[in-house]
Amino acid sequence: MERVTAVAGVREAVGRWRGEGGRVALVPTMGNLHEGHLALMRRAREVSDFVVVSIFVNPLQFTQGEDYDRYPRTPEQDHARLEGEGVDLLFEPGDGEVYQSTLSETTRVEVPGIGDILCGAFRPGHFTGVATVVNMLLNMVQPHIAIVGQKDYQQFLLIRRMVDDLRLPVEVTAVPTVREADGLAMSSRNRYLRPGERQKAPLLYQTLSSMRERILGGERDYPALERDALDTLSQGGFRPEYLTVRRAPDLAPPGAGDTELVLLGAAWMGPARLIDNVLVNAVL
Ligand code: PAJ
Repeated sequence: MERVTAVAGVREAVGRWRGEGGRVALVPTMGNLHEGHLALMRRAREVSDFVVVSIFVNPLQFTQGEDYDRYPRTPEQDHARLEGEGVDLLFEPGDGEVYQSTLSETTRVEVPGIGDILCGAFRPGHFTGVATVVNMLLNMVQPHIAIVGQKDYQQFLLIRRMVDDLRLPVEVTAVPTVREADGLAMSSRNRYLRPGERQKAPLLYQTLSSMRERILGGERDYPALERDALDTLSQGGFRPEYLTVRRAPDLAPPGAGDTELVLLGAAWMGPARLIDNVLVNAVL
């Protein structure tokens, strides 16, 4: 595996591979890699000839008071995992390589609408930070395809919208969520959970799954479904932010005729903000 920290280095390698007619995939990450990330790399390997992984903890997507400073950084463990997956190139830029201006003056990419609702409403500016850094990473690496996770479903739709709107010459593919044995979606933030909290955490996925069952069973009163589910979460020790039924393609509230749905939730369990989602009659 090649390891580079400079844009020039990644451009040189990708230029070489493209020159040979190779297809290049990028998997953008913030490191602290777990099986969910590795599933993205395996998909990247299947659909391309060369796999580039980026690790960059992006300050612009953390809002005031969030966990930027204590976000887990585990470079040695990450390098070993990437070697194990046969990744071709690790791009690990420093803050100055990505943001050449001060953060407050850097050019931004805004995706109104999809970036302002759900997680965007609770984390103002978060999705502008995501869209900006993903746009920069795509420009720096110039892959044919970018691989992201369903785990962050709103982020996936936002990246796809940005790529469409800005006519970026890249395909965006999402990979299903990888879960622990008890259903909890894998996440770097799960490590913030203390043992008692970790035990309760699978309730988020269980609640989304039982909403799914009720919809498949014919239930159409979505507001009632959402209220029940929020109660279940609160009684189970969560502090929910939202739990909602949306149209899978665009996250709009569903009308009576909409069948392709996604159920999304965000909720605090102790110090950890957990998110999850399940699809109903929809494919990635
Ligand atoms: P990070 O949280 O490190 O996630 C990197 C990628 O891994 C994202 O596409 C995410 O959806 C995916 N992922 C995380 N957990 C997963 C799981 N359990 N199953 C499947 N995929 C999973 O998301 C980010 O970083 C950042 O916002 C980033 C896109 C890198 C921009 O900074």
